[in-house]
Amino acid sequence: MEANGKSEGAIEMFRAQAHIYKHACNYVNSMVLATAIQLNIPDIIHTHGKPITIPKLVSALKLPPHKSNAVYRLMRLLTHNGFFDSTKLNKAEEEKEDGYVLTASSRLLLKTQIPNLSPFALFAVHPVMLAPWKVLGDWFSRNEESTAFETAHGAPLWEFCDSNPKFNNVFNEGMASDSQMMRLIVKDCGRVFEGVGTLVDVGGGTGMIAKLILGAFPSLKCTVLDLPHVVADKPGGGSENLRFLGGDMFHSIPSADAIMFKHIMHDWSDEECVKILKKGREAIIADKNDGVKKKGKVIIIGTVLGAEEDNETDITEMKLIFDLLMMVHNTGRERTEMEYEKLFTESGFTHYKITPIFGLMSLIEVFP
Ligand SMILES: C[S@@+](CC[C@H](N)C(=O)[O-])C[C@H]1O[C@@H](n2cnc3c(N)ncnc32)[C@H](O)[C@@H]1O
Repeated sequence: MEANGKSEGAIEMFRAQAHIYKHACNYVNSMVLATAIQLNIPDIIHTHGKPITIPKLVSALKLPPHKSNAVYRLMRLLTHNGFFDSTKLNKAEEEKEDGYVLTASSRLLLKTQIPNLSPFALFAVHPVMLAPWKVLGDWFSRNEESTAFETAHGAPLWEFCDSNPKFNNVFNEGMASDSQMMRLIVKDCGRVFEGVGTLVDVGGGTGMIAKLILGAFPSLKCTVLDLPHVVADKPGGGSENLRFLGGDMFHSIPSADAIMFKHIMHDWSDEECVKILKKGREAIIADKNDGVKKKGKVIIIGTVLGAEEDNETDITEMKLIFDLLMMVHNTGRERTEMEYEKLFTESGFTHYKITPIFGLMSLIEVFP
């Protein structure tokens, strides 16, 4: 069979070549996105308030005019990838110029707005995060338990954060920016927090999500438990309903009506998750002062593999990418509902309820 003078076999091979090259060079997409953020392009377009031409963009970026062509090519790929839209500006036919505007994706990168995912996008390509990928082949052939992160940096991720305050900050800001997305749905979660007077956010980082929850449910009392180096500079939390506590979730979790884990389970192996969940279970069935045993719940916010929304290609691919990120940087993994259920049963819980809440994430309530 011939098409345009080429055999179908050849057409398929050339398509496969493009497929290989696209994946081999995918880092260009990550780096171009990071560069646009570093240059402040989304904010400049936002401030401009109408479609911006390349010469105006170059001038607003205060770049040398001879960089115009480079900026145009950067914008062309980012527009192709859905970060900007371009429109023909209404000038005389022969002078028509492209004007660039924001899309839903670049609006989420604005540094002046919340949610702002720029810190996450920069953290994802930080050299510390990239180094383990360069040793991954080696790591596979080594007969040892440690992670590729450890092979690259000589220490597990959390220890590395402890001894590298600058990267610790990049990591925590990246996670906090991810948590800002919760702002879009936290008010709709009334049912989840009904009857909850006290909440511990385990591994709660900078307290971003705790603050969002308190904003929507101000009568709650919230404790953010995280490693000492994460919460050391946040003793009071700035609100009488929010306190930060340095500690180790493997040793002890303070008792509360609800114990929340956001983006925690996927950091750890099954054995480690069972240990953490058992500590969480102890914390929600602790004796009250009056001798009455009160049973609360564990709230997990994380990714569930194979959920309905996985029909969307971007979401499925991102969940599988998260899974490998967890394998390379930590000892963890993403899990299917059945794999979660097994963890809950092994940790002594009796039932659970999964609510898919937003894109990549689900909310799982787990009961003792
Ligand atoms: C992936 S981050 C999630 C942060 C936050 N929950 C969020 O979603 O934005 C994992 C968090 O777990 C914390 N962590 C790691 N080991 C811990 C431990 N043994 N006890 C308490 N927190 C821990 C880390 O410091 C980090 O803040």
